Amino acid sequence: MNHNVLITGGAGFIGSHVVRLFVTNYPEYHIYNLDILSYAGNLDNLTDLKNNENYTFIKGDICDNELIKNIFKKYKISRVIHLAAESHVDRSITDPLSFATTNVMGTLNLLQVAKESWQANYINKLFYHISTDEVYGSLGHDGLFSENSKYDPHSPYAASKASSDHFVRAFADTYGMPTVISNCSNNYGSYQFPEKLIPLFINNIVNNKPLPVYGKGENVRDWLFVNDHARAIDVIFHDGKLGDTYNIGGFNEWKNIDLIKVMIKTVDRLLGREEGTSDKLITYVTDRAGHDFRYAIDSTKLKDDLGWEPSLQFEEGIEKTVTWYLENTVWLKQVTSGKYQEYYQKMYN
Ligand code: NAD
Ligand code: DAU
Repeated sequence: MNHNVLITGGAGFIGSHVVRLFVTNYPEYHIYNLDILSYAGNLDNLTDLKNNENYTFIKGDICDNELIKNIFKKYKISRVIHLAAESHVDRSITDPLSFATTNVMGTLNLLQVAKESWQANYINKLFYHISTDEVYGSLGHDGLFSENSKYDPHSPYAASKASSDHFVRAFADTYGMPTVISNCSNNYGSYQFPEKLIPLFINNIVNNKPLPVYGKGENVRDWLFVNDHARAIDVIFHDGKLGDTYNIGGFNEWKNIDLIKVMIKTVDRLLGREEGTSDKLITYVTDRAGHDFRYAIDSTKLKDDLGWEPSLQFEEGIEKTVTWYLENTVWLKQVTSGKYQEYYQKMYN
């Protein structure tokens, strides 16, 4: 089966891994990567693909109705993997409106155009929406999020993602749109913008800068290597049941402060520094407003139904990730210059 696949947000962190996997593994598909190239989108994440014949980059906004209509018509889009979003919780606290615009209205715009383009014939069509575990809210010390967990978003980011999930289900229920949704836990790996915990802290450790730990560092996240998320998306895209939801996670929970100590140890060792050199950089700062205590995903359904499992142990994944950031200093310098410095000053001073 040939497909013209529209991947939105393909120049971002997870999107670039998904685009690479699909372009490489499915030469019979044509991949159209639509991305506005916001601060988080970067074509340097995909330089290796620019000469692939089954790959086209389109710069544009998912909220632009005319543009999306033209793309569906011109390229006969038959499947969508929708990742484009504003994705950083801290930014959603200072600028919630942008999150509603992109994450809610942008998703709705894509759904509406897909419906208009496909409704005469939904066969072999798919609207695959990439979402987050944050829609389920926060856990106490016990329990895991399942696909049946109640939606209880707290941050404006989580609320906007929850809303977009609801719209996707509404289109499936109301118009028969062939949809699937996956809700994933925290990703880490190469090409992640250094506003998120892991790349931010690796960069700061390298540069001997303070590590701003929110609150007491006791919040818990469930970390998944980004390539494993991309593999899960591949499996769900091809074998997921229409109308279903799949949770994706690594059964890999870490208290922030413990994870930070692993990063410090790994960076110091790989840089040939004495063990403990960078411990002094840990700086406890005011907690994030509305900070969710714990996320943890039960991905049993994905394993039982579709056979997916994470491929990497966390120790191996974090070693690979730190090594990548140490080796890709040009990329890191480029994304941390200019506007990033303004963001950093505002956010942490
Ligand atoms: P990211 O911020 O790195 O990338 C987002 C991409 O979307 C960027 O390339 C950006 O330019 C693009 N974009 C933003 N607004 C756009 C618009 N209006 N039109 C077109 N493109 C636009 O995000 P990420 O971490 O790669 O997350 C990708 C998706 O996965 C998001 O939907 C996010 O909610 C979801 N997700 C992320 C994680 C995680 O840990 N990072 C976990 C679960 C789910
Ligand atoms: O759970 C999935 C979500 O994971 C995704 O949907 C989001 O797009 C992604 O950004 C991520 O959200 P988090 O808020 O969990 O990730 P972040 O890297 O921002 O923070 C991870 C933890 O580290 C969280 O408890 C807050 C804490 N933190 C973060 C930063 C940036 C700090 O202590 N200091 C920091 O400077």
